[in-house]
Amino acid sequence: MDKLGLRYALLFFGSWLVAACQPQSTPYVFALPDTIPPPAVPAENPITLEKVTLGRMLFYDTGLSVNRSQSCATCHQQQFAFAEPTQHATGATGEVVPRNSMALVNVGYNSAFTWAHNGFTHIEEQLLIPLFNESPVELGVTGNEKEILKRFTSAEYQALFKSAFATEQPSFDLIVKALASFVRSLTSFNSPFDQYAYEGDDTALTKRQIEGMNLFFSERTECFHCHGGVNFSQSSTHAAQSLVLQPFHNTGLYNEDGKGAYPERDQGLLRITFNQKDMGKFRAPTLRNIAASAPYMHDGSIATLEEVIEFYAQGGRGKGKSNPYKSPFVKGFNINEDEKAALKAFLESLTDHAFLTNPKHGPLLNQTM
Ligand code: HEC
Ligand code: HEC
Repeated sequence: MDKLGLRYALLFFGSWLVAACQPQSTPYVFALPDTIPPPAVPAENPITLEKVTLGRMLFYDTGLSVNRSQSCATCHQQQFAFAEPTQHATGATGEVVPRNSMALVNVGYNSAFTWAHNGFTHIEEQLLIPLFNESPVELGVTGNEKEILKRFTSAEYQALFKSAFATEQPSFDLIVKALASFVRSLTSFNSPFDQYAYEGDDTALTKRQIEGMNLFFSERTECFHCHGGVNFSQSSTHAAQSLVLQPFHNTGLYNEDGKGAYPERDQGLLRITFNQKDMGKFRAPTLRNIAASAPYMHDGSIATLEEVIEFYAQGGRGKGKSNPYKSPFVKGFNINEDEKAALKAFLESLTDHAFLTNPKHGPLLNQTM
């Protein structure tokens, strides 16, 4: 081989080496209707198919909890819109988590996370809580980091980490990036309501559901004021939007002392800001797939959608009706039985059955949970 040939051979080998050490990065294509922009993805963690696949495997792996008793999917079950049909969650070691497990639906579009927190800007930050929280313990990683990371060094995980991140070495930074990518892939825009409103299919909603939709968007019920936009949640954003609203509201669920106190165990945004005006303020969550994710509210204290509608019609619950911090939009309204049924039927039209059963969101085929 002459000098030039050798140089080319080395160059070729060099670029092969560089390519072999790069993560495979198949761009992840969100399955979205034309009218819906993709969610904003942080620059530090571009979304790829390989990360989503690794994240999916991790999401269903009980190895992520200290005693191998829980995975993310214990509290976030697909058939219930990735919520859990219990009033409140329980951590891996049996500690009570006072809040209801949240549905994971279009979380990539959130501009605020959890039931009441104004400090997280990305899913990546929020995920440190179930992993590392010590009071209450959820997955219980803190203090057991090394032991837990060792569980992700099988040949299968090595291959998955390598293709997602170009290293076989697991770390919590990479685990969180992969899990956040999987959570971002959980998009749901294929309900009968979507077919009606965005796909122009006039037959997708029943007459009753249309009547309920008109009630939902009326000044009488005010629902749309707080559950607005394409996600039925004020706290939404997307790749093409810069205005970020972080709305939290007190809906009058409690009034322990007549002066507006919510129960000590959970006073909402106040716990984060220490500002009295945030007493009992929680985030208005998405209503997509809401029929699948009972029970309702931050503490799961309302069992059914009928009762939620009745709660708003009453303008709050018990003494909560006169909570001084209650939002003026929860003022109570007259509604007859027929109209209640229509409003409920509309909420049911937000169920996206394909999302709840999509095998791509479930465990990988060879995975035992
Ligand atoms: C013990 C039950 C439990 C486990 C395990 C758990 N979660 Fe959660 N998750 C919750 C609860 C409860 C909330 C609401 C937390 C709050 O409001 O403070 C929540 C909230 C979330 C949110 C915020 C959703 C939103 O719209 O703001 C995301 C994302 C999430 N969990 C993902 C995960 C992932 C990924 C895992 C695995 C690493 C996980 N969770 C493990 C119970 C759990
Ligand atoms: C003032 C703003 C506001 C208005 C108006 C409002 N909501 Fe809400 N909604 C919220 C907030 C905040 C929560 C969470 C409250 C909590 O957990 O303490 C919530 C929770 C819910 C939930 C439970 C969500 C879940 O995942 O558990 C449903 C269902 C719901 N609202 C439906 C409606 C309907 C139907 C209307 C109209 C009749 C309505 N809302 C009007 C702010 C509002």
